[in-house]
Amino acid sequence: MERAFFSIMIEISTISDASICSAVNRLREGNLVAFPTETVYGLGADATNASAVAEIFVAKQRPEFNPLISHVASVNAAFELGVETPIATSLANAFWPGPLTLILQRRAKCSVTLLATAGLDKIGIRVPAHNGTQLLLRAFGKPVAAPSANPSGQISPSTADHVIHGLGTNVGFVLDGGPCESGLESTIIDCTGQRARLLRPGGITREAVANALAAAGLDPKITIARALDDKTKPIAPGQLTSHYAPRATLRVAAQARRRGEEMIGFGKIHGAGKLQLNLSVSGNLIEAAANLFSMLHAADATSTKKIAIAPVPNTGLGEAINDRLHRAAAPRQDKGRNTI
Ligand code: TXA
Ligand code: MG
Repeated sequence: MERAFFSIMIEISTISDASICSAVNRLREGNLVAFPTETVYGLGADATNASAVAEIFVAKQRPEFNPLISHVASVNAAFELGVETPIATSLANAFWPGPLTLILQRRAKCSVTLLATAGLDKIGIRVPAHNGTQLLLRAFGKPVAAPSANPSGQISPSTADHVIHGLGTNVGFVLDGGPCESGLESTIIDCTGQRARLLRPGGITREAVANALAAAGLDPKITIARALDDKTKPIAPGQLTSHYAPRATLRVAAQARRRGEEMIGFGKIHGAGKLQLNLSVSGNLIEAAANLFSMLHAADATSTKKIAIAPVPNTGLGEAINDRLHRAAAPRQDKGRNTI
């Protein structure tokens, strides 16, 4: 009944050459596509298109910019985005394609927008095994950023009906591949340190990961950490220690530039300083979200010690933008860097 009602506004197609082709066209146009994987359904966008990625946060109503996993078709494509390490190589060989996400250092030439990685210098990558996902990723030819296709704070969807029930018309197109094989999200391992770090238990067990490391002659011990999810909102700036940390101090809700500042504008408040940046001249919050991290990085890369940023309304995506900005502007705990 629900599906029949929504099918007037949402295109719901079982996997076929024609539906993969429509999905690819939608991704190319910067639209969202929900698609099945062997774990849960994902809400996908072109990972290289910041505005398309911003739409994911709107559709899910994520209260902050939690980084998104980039999905690619092959191990080679994965290591074009992130830097290979011995831990990463051994786990990729053992479990990709499959329900495993690896956190790697972003390559300098990584094509994925900074918004998808929430401004971090690390990227989460997965090569899914699901036949339909593989067809989609191969036909699209670029990385697809996708969180689970559920509204923030709700359970991950394992059928197309769950997606429609949760997101309704916030998603325009659903590829229906039937129920997901596992219904449990991917295991996430941070491969950037000396030892593997488990950020989220999932489809692949800790024992299986340890065995694969040992088989490759690596240290099989795994450090346990906790990934952010839709329900764990970070409460203190220091909780996001791995998050993007501007070198300069940040002054938020600034009406005008003060001496020495690199000022990032929004709407009618102009940018000023060397770069004259503006998150969105027209005051569009999706555009502002799309520009946020790249502009902070750009301002931080100038020689300034101080960045100021114009007020951003706290509605819609503005809430997520302000959440990040306030954390970046909060007093430093380590006399070192701010965390964002
Ligand atoms: O099975 C899955 O992983 C599904 C399917 C669609 O692939 N995706 C999924 O995405 O569960 P999501 O967004 O619901 O959960 C991804 C988790 C979040 O906890 C996020 O914080 C973490 O991955 N994550 C993504 N990129 C990260 C990064 N660069 N550093 C640390 N954590 C990251
Ligand atoms: Mg999720």
